[in-house]
Amino acid sequence: MNLTSKPVQEIFGDVVCPGDKSISQRILIIGSLLNCDINVSGFLNAKDPLSTMAALNQIGASINKYGDLVKIIKRSRPFTSPESSIDLGNSGTGIRLLTGLISGLNLKATLIGDESLSQRPMSRVVNPLVKMGKKISTNDGKTPIKIKGGYINDNFEYQMPVASAQVKSSLILASLSSGNSIQIKEPKVTRDHTEKMIEYCGGKIDVQNTSEGKIITLNKSKLSEISTYEVVGDFSSAAFIIVAALISKKSKILIKNVGLNETRVGLLEVLQKMNANIKIVNRRKTCNEICGDLIVESSDLEGIKVSDSVISNIIDEIPILSIAASFANGETVIKNASELKVKESDRLKAISQGLEAINIKHNLLADGLIIYGHNDDVASSKEINSFGDHRIAMSFLVAGLRSKDGIIVQNCKNIETSFPNFCNTMNALGMKVHG
Ligand code: S3P
Repeated sequence: MNLTSKPVQEIFGDVVCPGDKSISQRILIIGSLLNCDINVSGFLNAKDPLSTMAALNQIGASINKYGDLVKIIKRSRPFTSPESSIDLGNSGTGIRLLTGLISGLNLKATLIGDESLSQRPMSRVVNPLVKMGKKISTNDGKTPIKIKGGYINDNFEYQMPVASAQVKSSLILASLSSGNSIQIKEPKVTRDHTEKMIEYCGGKIDVQNTSEGKIITLNKSKLSEISTYEVVGDFSSAAFIIVAALISKKSKILIKNVGLNETRVGLLEVLQKMNANIKIVNRRKTCNEICGDLIVESSDLEGIKVSDSVISNIIDEIPILSIAASFANGETVIKNASELKVKESDRLKAISQGLEAINIKHNLLADGLIIYGHNDDVASSKEINSFGDHRIAMSFLVAGLRSKDGIIVQNCKNIETSFPNFCNTMNALGMKVHG
């Protein structure tokens, strides 16, 4: 499915931020473990959380969706090994977190995914789970992941070799669901929604900040029942709306209910250093997560050197940051971001090819990009390949509003994995994105 984004001068109005993808998936998993009736509001009704929901129902959870309300129902039966393979589609979070959960529950299962997920590295979760005592095989580090048996050791200690919230969460869920303790050392801080949700449900989780990063300790925990959970908005989805407002000529918008967890909002800091006019109002706490509303206005952006220490915090936002950098005066340098090569696509290559198509001068590095931006509208010389990656597709559609004659982005179907209402939401604010 190709989409075209036409030039517009102004985007204006207010919008409610779509639900957080990471938190939506975690409440399904942790909510099913709690085994009580929970009404979940604000859930992200998109392909990735829905494939996690289907996977949980396949192992005996009882989760139903009524429009935007999700009901997790107390199970009448124990979790069971599924009869057929569990297909997590495009969802890296789904497959990695479920691998941990299923390992801890002592079930046997085979987990698979779509073409993109089948290329992505799974040893990062499988190796530590094997060290913890599980018997798991993969196809040379890729899917299918076959969980065959074994057990989870108590008091496992693990130093994270890669900055990955999915790996950290997978191991925490394996320990939690098997009733064990774990200690994880995390040199580079990654999103902490799992820790925050366990704490919200009364789990004994302790986080120490040290000069070498975080030490996260989950002690044997019996979680308390909750009856409702409200998912805050996804900062990563808000990022597309923020950058659209910043780079357009005459815009002012309000984005309501945006998740502002400090492990997620590094892009705000980066954009503010680039001279972005963004204000946070109505800051509050919902279900142990900070959120607030953002007021964003058109800004004359300036290029910067992005600090290495913020990279793991902005990892999902680098595609849209590259678009902000394209319309910022001067050079933006992004390094230490080789994790981008193993996301839903090789995002460094995808960004570079897209920038080439819109004639933005840049250097592709082994671990990042240097982008030489300017404040002129761009001419697109060819259609842009999104490589089936939702964030690449949405980023270049946002760039379309500063194009001379429009930008065509190929293979946009996977926008439905994280932001299914992207076109309607952006068009309601004044953008012109059409099939
Ligand atoms: C996620 C963690 C990040 C992020 C992904 C969602 C999560 O991946 O890129 O979109 O929900 O835990 P890594 O764990 O690979 O860094």
